[in-house]
Amino acid sequence: MKNFDKSIDTPKWLFKENENLSPLNDGKPFILIDYHQVTYDLNDWLTIEKDLVNKLLLKHGGILFRGFNINTVEKFNTITTSFNSEPIPYMFRSSPRYSLGDHVYLSTTYPSSRKINMHSESSYSYVWGQKIMFCCITEPIEGGETPIADNRLVMRKISNELLKKFDEHGIIYQRTLSPHVSMGWPEVFQTEDRQAVLGICKENDISCNFLNDQELIIRWKRPALAKHPLTGDKIWFNHAFFFNKYSILDEMGLLPDEDIPDDLLPSNTFFGDGSEISHSDYLELRSAYETEKTYFKWKKGDVLLLDNMLTAHGRSPYKGDRKIIVAIMEPTS
Ligand SMILES: [Fe+2]
Repeated sequence: MKNFDKSIDTPKWLFKENENLSPLNDGKPFILIDYHQVTYDLNDWLTIEKDLVNKLLLKHGGILFRGFNINTVEKFNTITTSFNSEPIPYMFRSSPRYSLGDHVYLSTTYPSSRKINMHSESSYSYVWGQKIMFCCITEPIEGGETPIADNRLVMRKISNELLKKFDEHGIIYQRTLSPHVSMGWPEVFQTEDRQAVLGICKENDISCNFLNDQELIIRWKRPALAKHPLTGDKIWFNHAFFFNKYSILDEMGLLPDEDIPDDLLPSNTFFGDGSEISHSDYLELRSAYETEKTYFKWKKGDVLLLDNMLTAHGRSPYKGDRKIIVAIMEPTS
């Protein structure tokens, strides 16, 4: 650690917002903090300067820490304990994920040739993490970026009419949990016990229909906008786009009028009154994310810290090895 004497009660960080921050990409709100500009130990900085980190996160939505050499699971594990809560388990899953212990996960085992659409982690759920942090252990040879988009700006790109409809009605989510279609229900709910799944669904007001031992259809309603606990602002925070059938058809290279039966469609979303989200509504959401998202090339040892409510993320297809690990902190509901 440099430039910090632990015997001094009040640390004299030499951090200056106008000198030690660079924009991650021109014209986008996210910032880069480079070790060579600040020369702090990242773990100490995150621990002691919590207020500053929270202030920067609120303003910018995401911070990329580069050059701090966080290049092992163990080093990342240490960083994850610097927040208001230790990492939380990944429950009610929407993507296959491999645990590395201590609630640190390989970001996803989803096939490398496929894109992962923009989303805010667990925004379809009753509990989510306020912060999400990624770390690059192995940088991909080609592609594999984690695009990010400020949900405040995404929301502004959605027409008032469509936003009002989402805000008034909320969103109905529907998922078919089956190993033949997407993820099986034991992986999603992290239990092999059907009674336990029925209990979780009842507790969270999720309708639950077992078609057979392996297939389960679940359906539930959530708001489209959520109140940020620190700013009090209502913000676009949902999986309306990610789970929508047009996203899935798009990704599979199928036309939007392709008729896929419900039990073969991994997921779909509707307005909260049960009405369809039209293809043009879907295109409007897609365009909002596309306009606002930005990319950076992962470098080994990078740490990306996001306010999960303020900033959405995705994943580009990639070639070669890629090991990005992730932890979710500070449960919020
Ligand atoms: Fe994610």
